[in-house]
Amino acid sequence: MLKTIIVSNRLPTKVLRADDSLTFQPSEGGLATGLGSIYRRGDNVWVGWPGLFVNDPAEEQYVTEQLQADSMAPVFLTEAEIRDYYEGFSNSTLWPTFHYFTQFATYEQSHWEAYVAVNEKFCQAVLAQSGPDDTIWIHDYQLLLLPEMLRRTRPEASIGFFLHIPFPSYELIRVLPWAAELLRGVLGADLIGFHTFGYMRHFLSAVSHTLGITAHNGQLEVGQRAVRVDAFPMGIDYERYAQAAASEAAQAHERTYREALRDTRVILSIDRLDYTKGIAQRLRAFELLLERYPEWREQVSLIMLVVPSRDQVAQYAALKEEIDELTGRINSRYRTISWNPIQYFYRSLPLEELASLYRLAEVALVTPMRDGMNLVAKEFIASKADQRGVLILSERAGAARELSDALIINPTDTSRLAEALHDALVMPEDEQRQRMAAMQALVERYNIFSWTKLFLNQLAYTKIKQQTLATE
Ligand code: G6P
Repeated sequence: MLKTIIVSNRLPTKVLRADDSLTFQPSEGGLATGLGSIYRRGDNVWVGWPGLFVNDPAEEQYVTEQLQADSMAPVFLTEAEIRDYYEGFSNSTLWPTFHYFTQFATYEQSHWEAYVAVNEKFCQAVLAQSGPDDTIWIHDYQLLLLPEMLRRTRPEASIGFFLHIPFPSYELIRVLPWAAELLRGVLGADLIGFHTFGYMRHFLSAVSHTLGITAHNGQLEVGQRAVRVDAFPMGIDYERYAQAAASEAAQAHERTYREALRDTRVILSIDRLDYTKGIAQRLRAFELLLERYPEWREQVSLIMLVVPSRDQVAQYAALKEEIDELTGRINSRYRTISWNPIQYFYRSLPLEELASLYRLAEVALVTPMRDGMNLVAKEFIASKADQRGVLILSERAGAARELSDALIINPTDTSRLAEALHDALVMPEDEQRQRMAAMQALVERYNIFSWTKLFLNQLAYTKIKQQTLATE
């Protein structure tokens, strides 16, 4: 039977070392949640890194067996690979470049070499799991070279690639010394997907400038192969969030929180720790709200959840300090004995607690500087059974292309952001419901399941078309 192999840097299960034992936990990030239903089907398998460094062969064996039982095949990375490929090239070169933070980007030859070597390691792992005609779906910027590497050994395979982060303007791509290799790597796929048409256009422009290949009707001719390029805005598991928010557990948590917050109005901010998310700018906007509108003091609380991420990368560690300091400063400036403006949590929370925060919040503040899609915006929408609540959304999140009923703002404009917060807090209920209902209809319909189906169908169709053309 033909298999589908999902490949991403991180497996949907994260293995953690606590004292002397190992625990298995779901990974952060929408991707893991998104494809859960696919890889467990039939003989399908998910290939990726389990998220920890393993030195002992017996332990490696144990982790492999545990993950295998749940349809996962681990790729183990050495400490040097984690440093140079993951923290290095993936998260200190590609991540900042693709998010328009070139001032944070480093260009180390040794990191590039590790990136090539680890993509090759993933290639071997995928080859070990797959037959010549299987479907291989590769995810994200950590594995840009993998499609081409696999194509060399498996010329007949159906290979899909989806980029979960923005694809930036060619002007940023051209800064990378390895731009041509990276683009050629991706072009090993039969179908290349992006969250928005904007990202897709940037990709086509980069391919045209760098490799001299131009697209016709969303199709690129790469040697003898036709490669399709398209936009597939990713969705969420709508029912999962709607149900979690409606659960008894979430309602109980909400009651406890409301009481503790003395029924103040609630603004919510949830992100992985990342400089692309605009967390510091958001804090400044909240401070400005309290300064400009003293009537909100003691009346509104900002609940800010920051999920730890990549804290070994210098920029992330620096951002953590900046957030700690800003939060401390704002709280000490405005707090009273019975009110703390910002309730700051630096940890990850289980789904029902997350759901209770979505229930509790009247305003969700999703204001990234750049974001491929942003699924928090969609999770908030899915959690609002009573259709009350306002989403403030950055125009530079992929989600803004779909969620036009949010209050769309420029996240750099602190003054406008403070005004948007005020507008959201005084928005009439009727208007809230109208906007929320329109966004719910969209997020419910274009969910993670329709996204996956659409991509895989399109990949199968691309392959059939290639074969028909070849036999004509
Ligand atoms: C983003 C990326 C994913 C990544 C996730 C978590 O959503 O697009 O590829 O897995 O962040 O980051 P991490 O570095 O912890 O895997």
